Amino acid sequence: MMLNHIISMKDFSRDEIDIILNRAKKFEPVARGKRSNLLSGKILATLFYEPSTRTRLSFETAMKRLGGEVIDLGSIETSSIVKGENLADTIRVIGNYADSIVLRHPREGAARMASEFSKVPIINAGDGAGHHPTQTLLDLYTIMRESSLSNLRIALVGDLKYGRTVHSLAYALSLYHADVTLVSPAQLKMPEVIKKDLKKKGAVVRETTSIEDIVEEVDVLYVTRIQKERFPDPAEYQKVAGVYRVTEELLKKACENLIIMHPMPRVDEIDPAVDRTKFARYFEQSFYGVPVRMALLAMAMEAV
Ligand code: CP
Repeated sequence: MMLNHIISMKDFSRDEIDIILNRAKKFEPVARGKRSNLLSGKILATLFYEPSTRTRLSFETAMKRLGGEVIDLGSIETSSIVKGENLADTIRVIGNYADSIVLRHPREGAARMASEFSKVPIINAGDGAGHHPTQTLLDLYTIMRESSLSNLRIALVGDLKYGRTVHSLAYALSLYHADVTLVSPAQLKMPEVIKKDLKKKGAVVRETTSIEDIVEEVDVLYVTRIQKERFPDPAEYQKVAGVYRVTEELLKKACENLIIMHPMPRVDEIDPAVDRTKFARYFEQSFYGVPVRMALLAMAMEAV
């Protein structure tokens, strides 16, 4: 299977996702350091208009461990974007230098728009409060490796309004017929349009404001940060800051096989003491970004 642009999980079938996850598994030894020259001679461009640690560096690691090279736009302030160059022109130009482009942008829909101007594959690394499909693929991979995608009971916790990782993940979970519980403050509920899409796909979705009420009923607790930077009014952020905190005390009620995931960065929503428990998987999750992104890069570039 060849991939072209990777923009939204809405564009993927379950079969396509399973092919990517299985390909990722084959790349795990390379992600851990085994030599590969699969993408020797290929160049990946990374364009991050918003901050990133994991997505940027795991793409870079994936490309380099596969023998390819990376060019990075660097900070926006030192690029010609500050002179007023628009995204479409930037993409058209960089398509002359690289075989694929990873793009993170604060505007929802920016990656889709970029794909319309690009002659090389665009990989959406997060578009505002929209989507983050490569995060979802690594999230699914983490569940496959550390729990099970069959008969999955999962709670998505935190900022479900502005959190792009949970938007993308919710679409993918509907393909796996997961039992999904949405846990958020009333102000930060999953957008209605996404809930309607999920219901149309036959997904069973519950909503609550309390983690305590559901922690004993789920296999995966997917915790997210309140997205401070997306609140138009800082006073509104203050009303919900710190609303959820996963602690060892809370986990006394958890299922034996519960795993806790977080796309990270975390702020205060998981107590650091939880890192030492058998439930924590968020650091493994960040590692799995490497083999998953290797699979995506290989599928986007190796046969081109
Ligand atoms: N999960 C994630 O997207 O992390 P970064 O913002 O550090 O890339």
